[in-house]
Amino acid sequence: MSTARLETKGLSKNFGALEVAREVNFRLEAGARHALIGPNGAGKTTFINLLTGALAPSKGKVLLEGEDLTGLPQARRVKRGIARTFQINQLFRGLTVLENVCIPVFERMGLGGGMLRAAGRRAEVLAEAMRLIEMLKLGEDAGRRIVELPYGRQRLVEIAIALGLAPRVLLLDEPAAGIPSAETHILLDAIASLPRDIAVLIIEHDMEVVFRFAERITVLVNGAVYAEGAPQQIAANREVRAVYLGNALDA
Ligand SMILES: Nc1ncnc2c1ncn2[C@@H]1O[C@H](COP(=O)(O)OP(=O)(O)OP(=O)(O)O)[C@@H](O)[C@H]1O
Ligand SMILES: [Mg+2]
Repeated sequence: MSTARLETKGLSKNFGALEVAREVNFRLEAGARHALIGPNGAGKTTFINLLTGALAPSKGKVLLEGEDLTGLPQARRVKRGIARTFQINQLFRGLTVLENVCIPVFERMGLGGGMLRAAGRRAEVLAEAMRLIEMLKLGEDAGRRIVELPYGRQRLVEIAIALGLAPRVLLLDEPAAGIPSAETHILLDAIASLPRDIAVLIIEHDMEVVFRFAERITVLVNGAVYAEGAPQQIAANREVRAVYLGNALDA
């Protein structure tokens, strides 16, 4: 089998007696459009935290293109190309959209280390940040501070920031949460238009989003992989429907 972009082998995590990841063997292929679904508390966010290095596993490995990342701290994994957005957003609220997006671009171009606001004074940084901002249809908001933006737009800024790192792997934890349904198409279109050299893993409860986006779906229940396959296989899987999907797909 070819090397996965990102892979876990026997990845396990306990919080005391609670097993939140159980021997998870997972492959995110190059170019993947992969969704991770499962009930509340299944361990989805924990799994992403294990991939990014926010949490250390109790057992098992995380590999990026076959290279063991398990011991590496978060910042080093970001440099290797693993970017994520958070379930709850973490932006510089007093800075503008453009300033926020300039920061990762500036860092990635190896220009970091100065003052945050210095990021926006370099023409190449500004141009790249504006490209990402336009891609997320945030052009009109570029000069607005985060605090002035509706929540849904803030979530789009988070994605622009993650893209500013020029990631090889993009991990999105409930990107549609809090975005008004009339605006989720902006998010979906933006994700759909990402270059294929970025492998994308999305955690999402909104099944419409999942089934529009994903080419592969993994179902996590109680920290373990319960099922995995193409969207049609998952939708047709009786056990998955019983445990998780319920009537979500019948509507
Ligand atoms: N730092 C922690 N210490 C102890 N328990 C934790 C910690 N973080 C998460 N948990 C527990 O681990 C389990 C998995 O949580 P996690 O947040 O990964 O679930 P999730 O699938 O992302 O859920 P949701 O869909 O609600 O976001 C939950 O029971 C949660 O309470
Ligand atoms: Mg979660």
